[in-house]
Amino acid sequence: MSNEHTTHAELYGIEFVKALYHLIHTARIHKDNNQLIRDSLSKFKGILEEMTREEDLKLQLWRGRFHIGGEKLPYKRDAFTVINEVMKYFSRRGFGGLHFFVTSRKASPADLLTFIRLLDGAVKQDDPPEWLEQKLGGYALPWVRILRKQIDDQQDAEKDLSMRQYERAKTAYFHALDTVKEVADKASQGIAGIRKTRRLAQTIVDLVQEDTSLILGLATIKHYDDYTYTHSVNVSLLATCLGRNIGLSKVSLEHLSVCGLFHDLGKVGVSKDVLLKKGELSAEEWKNMQRHPLLGVRKILRLNADKVLRSKIILGPFEHHLNPDMTGYPKTHFMKKLSLLGKILRIADVYEALTAERAYRPRAFTPDEALRKMWSEGGKCFDPILLKSFIHMMGIYPVGSVVELNDGHMALVMDYPDESQKAVPLVMLLVDDGEGGLARGEMVHLSDQVMEEGSTRLTIIRGVQPSRVGVQVAQFFLQEK
Ligand SMILES: [Fe+2]
Ligand SMILES: [Fe+2]
Repeated sequence: MSNEHTTHAELYGIEFVKALYHLIHTARIHKDNNQLIRDSLSKFKGILEEMTREEDLKLQLWRGRFHIGGEKLPYKRDAFTVINEVMKYFSRRGFGGLHFFVTSRKASPADLLTFIRLLDGAVKQDDPPEWLEQKLGGYALPWVRILRKQIDDQQDAEKDLSMRQYERAKTAYFHALDTVKEVADKASQGIAGIRKTRRLAQTIVDLVQEDTSLILGLATIKHYDDYTYTHSVNVSLLATCLGRNIGLSKVSLEHLSVCGLFHDLGKVGVSKDVLLKKGELSAEEWKNMQRHPLLGVRKILRLNADKVLRSKIILGPFEHHLNPDMTGYPKTHFMKKLSLLGKILRIADVYEALTAERAYRPRAFTPDEALRKMWSEGGKCFDPILLKSFIHMMGIYPVGSVVELNDGHMALVMDYPDESQKAVPLVMLLVDDGEGGLARGEMVHLSDQVMEEGSTRLTIIRGVQPSRVGVQVAQFFLQEK
C-alpha cells in the first residue's frame, strides 16, 4: 500500500464495514421506526456519503481480504471479529462484493433499509446474487450492484489497484528471470548493458514498498530450468524486502535489488557438472566453485554501466559468502568488515538456498526450519541484528509455508494482515482435489481470539515439507490450477 497519500480504504474502510455490520444486525431485531435503527442508518449513510463523494465505492472480497477501491483494507486488531463476520456474511451469500454508485449518496434512509433487509433475506435463496439483482430492479434501487463471488479469484472486469499490483508483480518476476539470463549470456561475450536491469530494480523496489507479502509469496517460486536464475531473482526479492524493513533509502534498495540479481553472475563461469553435482565436491571442484564471487565481480566490472552505479553493486556480490569475522570465501586481506548490502545479501542468499530442492541433499528445509537453522548459526555467519530483523519480517511461518493446523487441515500461509504481529496469518486451506492431490480451499484468518463460543482456536502446529503433500507452493501464488 502506498504511503504517500491516505486512501478511502485507510480513512473510512473499517468504519464502513463496521457500520454495515451494525446496521444489518440492528435491522434484524428491530422494526423500521426504532431509534436504534435510525441511529445506525444515519451512521451508515454518513460514511457512505463520505466515501462516494468523488467516485463509486466498491467493497470487494479478494484473496481473503476486503478491498476498497482496489486497496487492501488495513488490518486492525480491534475490528478483526467484525470484519471476519462480514466476510462470512458475504461468502454465505456468494457475494464477491458490493458496488455503491455515486448516486447512492442520494438514497433515502428508507431505501437503504430496504436494501439491507433484501441483503439479509438473500441467504435463503438458491442463487442469492441473481435473486438480489432482480429485487433491486423491482424495488428501484439502481444505486447499488452485487458483485458475484468468483470461484477462481479472477474478477477480470473488476480488477483494481491491488489486483493489478499482483499482475505487475508476476510479470516483473518473469521479466527479472529473463533479464538475469540475458545479462549472464551477454556478459560472457562482454557486451552487456545494465539499463534494463536498473529499470527492473526500480519496479521491484516499488512492488516491495507496496506489498511485501505479495513479493515474499513470489519468492517461493522454485520451479525452474536453471536454478541459478530463479535463485538470483528470489535473493533479490528477499534482500529488497529486508532492506525495506530496516528503512533503507529508495536508491540503496535499487542497488540492493541489482546486487541480488547479479550476486551469482560468476556461477555462469563454473561448469554445470560442478553446479549440479549430486555428491560431495572434490577439493579441486570446491576451489572452482569458490571462485564465483570474484568471477562475478569481474563480470560486473565489464558491464556497460556508469561508474557510480558499478561501484555500488560490486561489494555485495563479492561479499555474499563471507562471515562477519571475514571467514568464508573469497579470502581477502584488504577488507576488515562487510558492507551493509553484503550482509543483507548473505542472509537472503542462505535462506533461499536452504529452502530450495538441491541435488546434494535429500530434501529442502521448510521455511521455519531454515530460519531456525540460521538462528542457531547466528552471529558466526550473519550479522545478528539483521538476522533478527529478517526473522521478524518473515514470521515463524513465513508467507509461502505449508502448515498443518490443529484441526488436521493442511494450509498455506498467504499473508500477515497485521505486519507488527506475525503470529496470526491469513491462510488458504488446502483441500482434497479428489485426485489424490490438494486444491485451493477457503481463505481463513487465524486469530488469537476465539471467534465463537465453544469453538477451539485454529492454530498452526507445524510446518510441512510441500513435496511431502505434493504441493508446488508457487502455483497457489501464481493462481495456476
Ligand atoms: Fe553464491
Ligand atoms: Fe547465491
